[in-house]
Order: sequence, then C-alpha cells, then structure tokens
Amino acid sequence: MNEKKAIYPGSFDPPTNGHLDIIDRGLTVFDAIIVSVIVNPSKDALFSVKERKEMLCDIYSSNPRVEIDSFEGLLVEYASKKGANTILRGLRAVSDFEYEFQMALMNRKLNPEIKSVYLMPSPEFTFLSSSIVKEVSSLRGDVSTLVPVSVEKQLKKKLL
Ligand code: PNS
Repeated sequence: MNEKKAIYPGSFDPPTNGHLDIIDRGLTVFDAIIVSVIVNPSKDALFSVKERKEMLCDIYSSNPRVEIDSFEGLLVEYASKKGANTILRGLRAVSDFEYEFQMALMNRKLNPEIKSVYLMPSPEFTFLSSSIVKEVSSLRGDVSTLVPVSVEKQLKKKLL
C-alpha cells in the first residue's frame, strides 16, 4: 500500500502548540508527516534553522511517523524530492485565507500533482502565532500554555 505522506512546511520560529495541534490532526489523516523548516536567510529569525529543528526533534523524538527536516527553494520541488504529494497547512482565521489561497494556487500551478490540504486548529489556538509568542515572552509574559516546555525554556534563554 502507498504511504500517505505530507509535508508540513513553515518557519516554526519557534514551534507553538498551534503547530503541534496541526501535526497531531495531520497524523490522523496521513501515515507520515515531514515537518520542514524553511531556510530563508532574508527573514529575521530569533532561532537558527538548527535550533528550530532541534526543538521539533525534541518534541517528536519518540514518534517514528514524524520526520524533521529543512528545505530551501521551491516547496513543490522539495515535496517531489521527498516523495510527498501533499502539502499540509493550518488555517487559523479568515486573515490567513488570502495568503494561503494564493500559495496553494501557485503551488498547484507549479506542480498540479501536489495537493494542498488545510486543517483548522483547536479554537484555543486560532489567535496563536510564533510572532505573538515571541513578543509576549520578550515582555516576560506567561506563554506556558502556548508552547511546549522545551520551547518555553529556549525562549527564556534567548530573550530574558
Ligand atoms: O510559517 P510560514 O512562514 O507561514 O511558512 C511559509 C512557507 C515556508 C510555507 C512558504 O514561504 C513557502 O512555501 N516558501 C517556499 C518558497 C516557494 O515554494 N514559493 C512558491 C509558492 S508560494
């Protein structure tokens, strides 16, 4: 039987419970998920790609169905190389829609074989983003319910 494999791409700077929610939901649909951190030198990031991968590896070390990786260049080319025909993304609110729609249609144009699948997170994460977590954390706010413990530790180490 063909394995149903999806790529879950993103910045993950840092990974939040919202990302984990999408991965966990994705695992009910797909046999395997490749969580892949984009290597984007032009974007100001708090954590290096290596650090972001380490945080994700730490969270999913005991789950053989989740692979942690990084990619550069076109997402559809990377997905083909990894043998995945689905791109998984989370859709939090209407505000995400336009950007995600544009991205999904561009990826379809680039490679019609690769489908984009969107999953909605639990409502408690619809307001959550890596940026807001970084802002709250830098101002000494409590993010303990928004990120895994290991990520909270890394945020404190970086920001405080
Ligand atoms: O977590 P993010 O920052 O919203 O993730 C955006 C990401 C990494 C999914 C997107 O920037 C991407 O796929 N970049 C790869 C470049 C690409 O393939 N562009 C063409 C399709 S829009």
